[in-house]
Amino acid sequence: MSGSTSLQRRLGLGLTLGVSLLWLLATLASGVVVSNELDAAFDSAMEETAQRILPLAVTEIVNRELPGLSQQIAMLRPHTEMLSYLVRDASGTVLLQSHDVNPALFAARPVTGFRTSDSHRIYGEAAVSNTIFIEVAEPLAHRQETARQAVMALLAPLLLLIPLSLAGIWLWVRSSLRPVLAYKTAIETRGAGDLSPVTQIALPEEIEPVAQAVDQLMERLRRALESERSFTANSAHELRTPLAAALAQVQRLRQEAPETQWQQRIDHIEALLQRLARLSEKLMQLAKAEGGALLATEPHNAVAVIRLVASEFRHDPAGWRLQLELPQTGAVMTTLDMDAVAILVRNLIENALKYGDETQPVRVSLSSEGRVRVSNGGPPVPADQLAGLTARFARAAGAHVSRPGAGLGLAIVDAIASGAGTRLVLSSPAPGQSDGFAAEVMLPGIMPPTDARQSVPWIT
Ligand SMILES: Nc1ncnc2c1ncn2[C@@H]1O[C@H](COP(=O)(O)OP(=O)(O)OP(=O)(O)O)[C@@H](O)[C@H]1O
Ligand SMILES: [Mg+2]
Repeated sequence: MSGSTSLQRRLGLGLTLGVSLLWLLATLASGVVVSNELDAAFDSAMEETAQRILPLAVTEIVNRELPGLSQQIAMLRPHTEMLSYLVRDASGTVLLQSHDVNPALFAARPVTGFRTSDSHRIYGEAAVSNTIFIEVAEPLAHRQETARQAVMALLAPLLLLIPLSLAGIWLWVRSSLRPVLAYKTAIETRGAGDLSPVTQIALPEEIEPVAQAVDQLMERLRRALESERSFTANSAHELRTPLAAALAQVQRLRQEAPETQWQQRIDHIEALLQRLARLSEKLMQLAKAEGGALLATEPHNAVAVIRLVASEFRHDPAGWRLQLELPQTGAVMTTLDMDAVAILVRNLIENALKYGDETQPVRVSLSSEGRVRVSNGGPPVPADQLAGLTARFARAAGAHVSRPGAGLGLAIVDAIASGAGTRLVLSSPAPGQSDGFAAEVMLPGIMPPTDARQSVPWIT
């Protein structure tokens, strides 16, 4: 079907994409929350730091012998200063500063409370009746780096989540679809003529109605086909007796009618009646071929059946052309119904004798693997006509058309082959030759020979 897509692939990709998107959104939202919380925590730490340092600084400044002296706190050991501070008086004169502070970060005069510059977060606090001020500065980059690391930590699992979710969903969907695949295989592997319901498989609730609809459809189809076949078989059967009686009457009439003119007419009527009898016989074979039940439970020996069918052509004027090439072992066991094997081989031999070159042999061969091939000489059938010969009432154009026939033989063989799960292969010219025609069928259910004679007791 065109445009069909794999449910497994769609669900795998769709769900993974959905989960990843949701995860990304959640990470983004968490990033915003984490960043706000971090800001609050850092602000609180700055406030605490300022309020802790300021009293110490005030004590230190008040106790100085030289007031107005600016002092820089010495660094105890080298480190990066995240928090730097400046202690100033109201006019902006620096009284105390941390070792790594950049005074340019701060306004000319001290300001209390929080504010944010381009690069820093600054907090100011006042003491001694707003005469001494402390301002603590923290680089914004520090906060941003912390927030970035938190978001990255939330994003990292995605790298693992995407392949894991893809593989997990893929496997899960595959195992959930197993009954559907089993249903598909059950339909695909059944023989062309098998229209029985497929009910043994426990399907998911959503698919069950489809399976029921398919079963109902097959049941309707089976009934329609059965009524068509039984009509064909019954009509052919009903025709048999009156046709035989009419033929007998015609033969009596021939003996009793004296005139030559009558004899010609009687010959004509007899030929027509015989054609009708052949047609009714072929219709019965076609009904059997299309009726299913072509596989027997017990295997039987195809070699014996082929010998028997070939012997039927003993009295045929062209029968001497038959050449049998059968396996040395004398037995090829097949599960294809015995009557079906006989109908198949009879039709192919009949054709080869009828349409093949009268001076060349007709080869009927059976390989030990069960390949039946009937080939003959004669002008090849054009490739464009070959494929259509298995249709009902189809005949190749050319000199053959003058030979009696309804165009049903190959349709019967093809119906038997496909009903038994195998295939009729036609080739012209015959394989390995420059002319002729060959028909080939691989018999189904070939088994190692047991006792060939037991399976067909009436063959000696
Ligand atoms: N062995 C063959 N060699 C050459 N042509 C063949 C051979 N077998 C079949 N054909 C061609 O295929 C056509 C169809 O064969 P098929 O057996 O279906 O019908 P038919 O022999 O014409 O009639 P029916 O078998 O019903 O009496 C034949 O008319 C003939 O043209
Ligand atoms: Mg034929």
